[in-house]
This record gives sequence, structure tokens and C-alpha cells, in this order.
Amino acid sequence: MKQRIKQSIENLKQLSAETLEDIEQLRIQYLGKKGVMNELFAQFKSVPNEEKKEMGSLLNELKTAVQTKIEALREAVENKSESKISVDDLTKPACLEQLGSRHPISLVRNEIISIFSKIGYTVEEGPEIEDDWHVFSALNFPPEHPARDMQDTFFIENREDGNHAVLRTHTSSVQVRTMEKQKPPIRIIAPGRVFRNEAISARAHCIFHQIEGLYIDKNVSFSDLKQSLLYFAKEMFGANTQIRLRPSYFPFTEPSAEMDVSCNLCGGKGCNVCKGTGWLEIMGCGMVDPNVLKASGIDPDVYSGFAFGMGVERIAMLKYGVNDLRMYFENDVRFLGQFRNSI
Ligand code: DAH
Repeated sequence: MKQRIKQSIENLKQLSAETLEDIEQLRIQYLGKKGVMNELFAQFKSVPNEEKKEMGSLLNELKTAVQTKIEALREAVENKSESKISVDDLTKPACLEQLGSRHPISLVRNEIISIFSKIGYTVEEGPEIEDDWHVFSALNFPPEHPARDMQDTFFIENREDGNHAVLRTHTSSVQVRTMEKQKPPIRIIAPGRVFRNEAISARAHCIFHQIEGLYIDKNVSFSDLKQSLLYFAKEMFGANTQIRLRPSYFPFTEPSAEMDVSCNLCGGKGCNVCKGTGWLEIMGCGMVDPNVLKASGIDPDVYSGFAFGMGVERIAMLKYGVNDLRMYFENDVRFLGQFRNSI
């Protein structure tokens, strides 16, 4: 009997099956009522007591081996038949590949870059970890100006000379860096991330994106600023878009203005996106203050220029009708997937 069990365990290793019916036959042969296992268990009754222990464990070994073998064969046959269907069944719907898509902030940033590059602007970049000079002092912020306050700015290193290391609060710092290393004419845009110590809400975030613009040459006037921004607004929001400039204040421009575009959702009639006014505020701008030119080594008696700065999230919100800023940072694929066709 011992010999027979050992032989059966050996035989099992050689077994193969092509179909599920083959496997059912095997199951009956081994585990059926009149199968090998039952036959051996019947013989087991007459095994002398002193051999029962060894024989019993051998029998159990065989039983487990049979069950494992049958399961393995079943799996193999089923897998085979599945892969067969996918090759042979030409009517089976194709599995579409999941394609990634660009982030809406990248889409809008690229569009803005492409609009300005058509009128001769090139892209400049600057560091995210900046110093007081490039973010504030050179941009004509008086020493006591509230924008330097701890509440707005992430200060990351106190320096003895007062030129503390900060995370840039705006991309206007790239204006200064560009003027320090280039001679006019200068015509650049500077896209980048900026950081402010703000509580995160639907309308504010501590990290966001801006695009800065700077144009410096001889005889640049406010009408050049107005025409350039009108061109941008029409390219970005449609040919019927109108703009208006409202007087404002920034330390680095004089005069300064806030630019609105006519609401592209209601066509200027007034809706809840433009809060009934027909206008949407999209950027700050103005003529570069002579103090800023001087600080960066450019003679304000020879050169003049304009600058502007806009928030990419804000423009993307208006373009795509997104009403919560946080969605841009959560990376929820259900949100991001909606921009798949906008590339
Ligand atoms: N730096 C300003 C801000 O972060 C935006 C800005 C306004 C930039 C006017 C400019 C400008 O270049 O001329 O709010």
C-alpha cells in the first residue's frame, strides 16, 4: 500500500489536461466515489495499528497533492481559453489605452506664452527662493511696506545685511533679474510659481502661478501697454473681448492700473461670474517706476517701459469655469481627465 501511495504521488506530477472535461475525468478518477482515494482509505482500515501513523500522513499528503494538481490544471486551462478568446474573437471591444493629459495650469500657461511670443516676447525664469532685494527693495517697496510683513511672505533665512532669503511672493522679481543682466530693448514674460502665507480656501492658496511681463525700450508709452494688453485679451478670450483699465497702485509702476476684460460668459450683460458688472479683473499693470529702472542699472532718462502681472489660476478658472482653486492642486484624475481634449 505504501508503495502504491508513493507511486500515485509521483504519477500526479506527470498528469496534464487540455480541457475542463479532462480535469473532471481526473477528479472522478482520484476523488470520485469509486476513485483511488476512497479505495486507499478503505484499505487503510486494515493497516496494523503501528503503521497507521505513517500511512495516515502519506495518505493525507496524496490527497493534498491531488487537490493542488487539479486546481493548477483548472487555472491553466481557464487562462488558456481566456487568451484564446482575445485573439480569436474579433468582435470583442478593444481595450482603450488610458492617455494622460496636460494639467489645466500648464495648458493656460503655454497658451499665454504662445500669445506673447507672437509679438516678440521671450521667456525668462528666476529662482523661487529669492532675496528681499529682488522681491521688494529693487521694486521700490518702502522698508515699512505691509507686503514685507510676516503674514504674506515666507521668510526662510534671516541675513544680517537685511537681504533676507524669502520664497518669492510674485514673479515681478524676474523683472529685476532680467534688467540686471540684459540691456534694453527688453521684451520678456516670466511664468512661475509664487508663494504666500495665505490660508487655503476656494479663492486663495499658498502656492500659485503668475506670469509677469516686461517691456523696456526708448519711447515706450502707456498706449503701447494698452494695445499690447488688448491684443492679449482678444487672443485669449475671443475677438469681441474689450478691456478697461482702472487706476490702481503698485510700488513698482507709476501710473498703475488694474485691467478688466469684458465677461466672456454673459458678453458684458452681467452674470454671477462677473457679479453683475460685465467685467472680470485679470491683471495688474503700469509704467515701470523710474526708481525700479535705476535700481536695476537702467537709465530712466533714456528708457521707459511697462510691466504687467497676472495669475494663471485666475485665468484658467475663467476659461474653464472652475470655481474652486484647490482643485488645481488635488490631482483628482476625474478633474484632470476633463482637459484631455484641450491639448
Ligand atoms: N506683482 C503683482 C502681484 O503679485 C502683480 C503685478 C502688478 C505685476 C502690476 C506687474 C504690474 O508687473 O505692473 O500682485
